[in-house]
Amino acid sequence: MPAQSPVRVLVTGVRGKTGAPLAQLLTARPDVEVLGGSSDPATVTTPGVRPTAFSWDDPAGWPAAVEGIDAVYVVRPDRADAPELIGALLERVPEQAHVVLLSEQSADDVGPEGWAVRTEQVVQSSGHSWTVLRPSWFMQVFTDPRFYLDLLTGGGDLPFPDGGAQIAWIDARDIAAVAERALLEPGHAGRRYELTGPEALTLPRTAELLSGAVGRPVVHREVTVEEAVAGTAGFDREILTLTYQRVQRGSFTPVTGTVEQVTGRPARTLAAFLTDAAPAVRPAA
Ligand SMILES: NC(=O)c1ccc[n+]([C@@H]2O[C@H](COP(=O)([O-])OP(=O)(O)OC[C@H]3O[C@@H](n4cnc5c(N)ncnc54)[C@H](OP(=O)(O)O)[C@@H]3O)[C@@H](O)[C@H]2O)c1
Repeated sequence: MPAQSPVRVLVTGVRGKTGAPLAQLLTARPDVEVLGGSSDPATVTTPGVRPTAFSWDDPAGWPAAVEGIDAVYVVRPDRADAPELIGALLERVPEQAHVVLLSEQSADDVGPEGWAVRTEQVVQSSGHSWTVLRPSWFMQVFTDPRFYLDLLTGGGDLPFPDGGAQIAWIDARDIAAVAERALLEPGHAGRRYELTGPEALTLPRTAELLSGAVGRPVVHREVTVEEAVAGTAGFDREILTLTYQRVQRGSFTPVTGTVEQVTGRPARTLAAFLTDAAPAVRPAA
């Protein structure tokens, strides 16, 4: 019997918080060929992943990146033209390929004209089978130097304009585990999955848990949205402002059991995540 050809999956954002653990999960499967999309493919070093040039700024490179793929994980670029860019990419993706889009929790609570919903709609009307992932805030913002890591290790407190709301922090590895199944297994087409951790936490409680991991007191400091977005401009400022306003309205508070329903095991707690992350967040002695 001829050997079956492997399933070819393009993971855009393979260096990112969900793309990296997703690529690891996919390479652990014997029958999957993993293309790791990055605008800087030389930095893609995950064993078993084929570094693949992929940049939202270089559509000329897309045909080579998507050639022969059976599924694609699309990490939404946070820019104003994301709906148009993703629409243009999907026109080049083979017709039969399944698309899994990384969106965000409660994306439609700002109405049908919201940027996040418009981005989802482009995928849903692309003619491809699709799954939309709508996760809450990632726990990995505390270990990412582009977010809070430097603040935590540098001895700062945790400024956050939460307005007293809770956040159902999710471990990006759990998002990756859901994405893995949505990309490879039947039963996920046409589904929008609201993904969260197992509990919603206030920011003061979050800071308390961070204190234990960092090994010194971390104190939540309530700031205004204006203060939180200081130094940003343009679309970044617009989307960050909206995101913090949505935090304050409780858009990231509802807890769902979707991670467990899809993967068969409970979503990780922030405490468990921080146990794993402690070496990364403890300041050097
Ligand atoms: N962060 C959250 O809590 C959260 C919550 C809900 C939804 N989302 C959504 O999820 C999507 C991804 O957001 P994200 O914050 O998690 O971004 P991310 O996936 O961690 O990173 C996005 C991209 O940034 C580039 N990058 C530049 N410098 C990097 C570095 N030092 N390390 C890793 N990647 C680097 C990479 O692309 P190249 O390799 O091409 O440079 C990477 O794929 C966004 O649409 C966001 O709105 C995020």
